[in-house]
Amino acid sequence: MNNPYINLVSNQHDIELFDIIHPKFRAQISRFGGHLLSFIPTNDSDWLWLSSTAQMDGTKPIRGGVPLCWPWFGPAPQDFSGEPQHGYIRSVHWQLDLIEGNDADLTIKLKPENATELEAKLGLSVCIEFNFSESLRINLVTQNVSDKEVPLSQAIHTYFRVKNIDDLLIKGLDSTEYADKLTGKTQIQDGAVDITEAVDRVYQTNTQNLTFHNGACELNVIGKNHDSIVVWNPWQEKAKDMADFDDDGYQTMICIEMANTQGLKLAPGKRHTLKQIIKKTD
Ligand code: BG6
Repeated sequence: MNNPYINLVSNQHDIELFDIIHPKFRAQISRFGGHLLSFIPTNDSDWLWLSSTAQMDGTKPIRGGVPLCWPWFGPAPQDFSGEPQHGYIRSVHWQLDLIEGNDADLTIKLKPENATELEAKLGLSVCIEFNFSESLRINLVTQNVSDKEVPLSQAIHTYFRVKNIDDLLIKGLDSTEYADKLTGKTQIQDGAVDITEAVDRVYQTNTQNLTFHNGACELNVIGKNHDSIVVWNPWQEKAKDMADFDDDGYQTMICIEMANTQGLKLAPGKRHTLKQIIKKTD
């Protein structure tokens, strides 16, 4: 790797991280999980939340940043019963496929080290593309490399940092139907989303543009090629129950995830790119 902006460093558990220092931003990506840990635009604070108790030794998915759920979102489907929640790729090591860019922006493409094994098992190939500048673009690219139709569900499971959850309003989901995973009921969103208790919702929508204020600036979260948007905050009790989640962390985070959960199927040879773009509002 020979790029003036990127250094390969190791954390205290010998997990390798791409440490990126660029005129427009600073970012870190863990090779375990292909997991973006932080994104700090120049003269701004981190847009991402990372638990200080996250397990960073490669024994479990990292709590915070941007985990990637693939090739399923949530519990494993019947054919894969017993396999991990949210799929495989947040627990595998990734390798660099491409770096390109200049002082204006930087693109980094990663592929799983065990790509051949995943392709043989699933009939799907996967890669991640990050594009960084004053904004952040994440593409989760899947290709059906088999000769039959393959089901796919997935999410870009971004943990955003917010100054105070009590002040958070997520705009753009008014009147949208959602599956409330905590009650099992289907509901309709009334106005902006505010979080005053545990929330685990799958909004059934391909709405492209949400906004919220993180306490420092207003952010746009733009999705493409999704059929759902997931909003998750575990709140106090569940946060305490999770060893890798700061007890009071629920006060300063919100997950807003672009996802496919509604039965997407990829035809043989077909390529699909799930996108999440995060930028300051104009
Ligand atoms: C959310 C799900 O996307 O991820 C929640 O909707 C889940 O149900 C949460 O609890 C965290 O999942 P995990 O596997 O990282 O603990």
